[in-house]
Order: sequence, then structure tokens, then C-alpha cells
Amino acid sequence: MTDEQKVESIISKHHGLRKNLIALLLDIQTEFNYLPPESLRRVAKALDMPLSEIVGVVTFYRAFSLKPRGKHFVQICLGTACHVRGGGRILEEFEQRLDVRAGETTKDKQFTVETVACLGCCAIGPVVTVDGEYFGHTTVRKVTAILKKYQKPAKAASRAVGSPAPQPAAAD
Ligand code: FES
Repeated sequence: MTDEQKVESIISKHHGLRKNLIALLLDIQTEFNYLPPESLRRVAKALDMPLSEIVGVVTFYRAFSLKPRGKHFVQICLGTACHVRGGGRILEEFEQRLDVRAGETTKDKQFTVETVACLGCCAIGPVVTVDGEYFGHTTVRKVTAILKKYQKPAKAASRAVGSPAPQPAAAD
């Protein structure tokens, strides 16, 4: 299926209805990890809406991205509460481990790292999210485990934080 066909199929799934715009855009973003400009033009045409209106919606919600993102989207909170508890050091650790700077995507297109001003749960800071999953009370030491949970399972990804990794064989 071509990219155009994928977009058309998503539009059809939502019956080309304006009231489904957000859900439709979310589906496109899930498919491509961002919203390709051509897809927005197609949505505008199908929903008979001005492109500018759709771009307005896309830029309003942080969940959407007009820039290509990696498979996994990491947000590191640098709001005041998280910053004073070491958010900056956690960002540095992600940057070092993934060899990217904030706002960039890894060469293998697996991770995009961004900073955010507040994730709305300051009490559990420093907070990191990956694909919308929250990791509270994050420490530099926990970064490895968080990444392991999302890294390709080519190499044994065991002892992931927060979820039992299905690794049937050889524990140590
Ligand atoms: S400052 Fe980090 S969640 Fe609010």
C-alpha cells in the first residue's frame, strides 16, 4: 500500500467527517510517526476544510508533529519542579546515550528526544514520557532501563522498567 493509499484509507475509516479530524490526524501520525504535509493537503480536500485550519489544529496540540519523528517519542520535563530535581542531568543522559541533542532524532530513527515545560504531574518529578507512558521520580540511573524497554529486541532487553519483558531463555 502506498503512502497515499494509507492516508486515503484512514480518511475513509473516519468517514471523511470533520468531527473526526483529531482522531484522523492521530491515526495518520501513528502510521508515519508525524504528519507529512501531503497528508494534510489530502485531509483538507477530503474534509472540505481550509488547509490553514488544519495546520492551526496541528500546531495547537503538542501531540502532533510536522517534523519526522523517530519510532519512539521521548519527552523530558524541564519545568521548574523537574528542573530542580535534576531534569537537566536526565536530559544529558538521554542525549549521551542516544547521541542526539534535544529536538533531534537518532540516526536509526528509533528515538526523538524533546524537552517540555511541564507534563502536569510535578509531584512525581523529574518526569519523562516515552510514547505517552509516564516515568516519575526518574534518575540518571533509570535512563538505561527506560531506554531498554523501547529499544529493538535484537539484543536481550531484559529487566525493563515498569513492565515484564517477555524473555523466555537464559536469565544471566
Ligand atoms: S515541572 Fe515537570 S511535570 Fe511539572
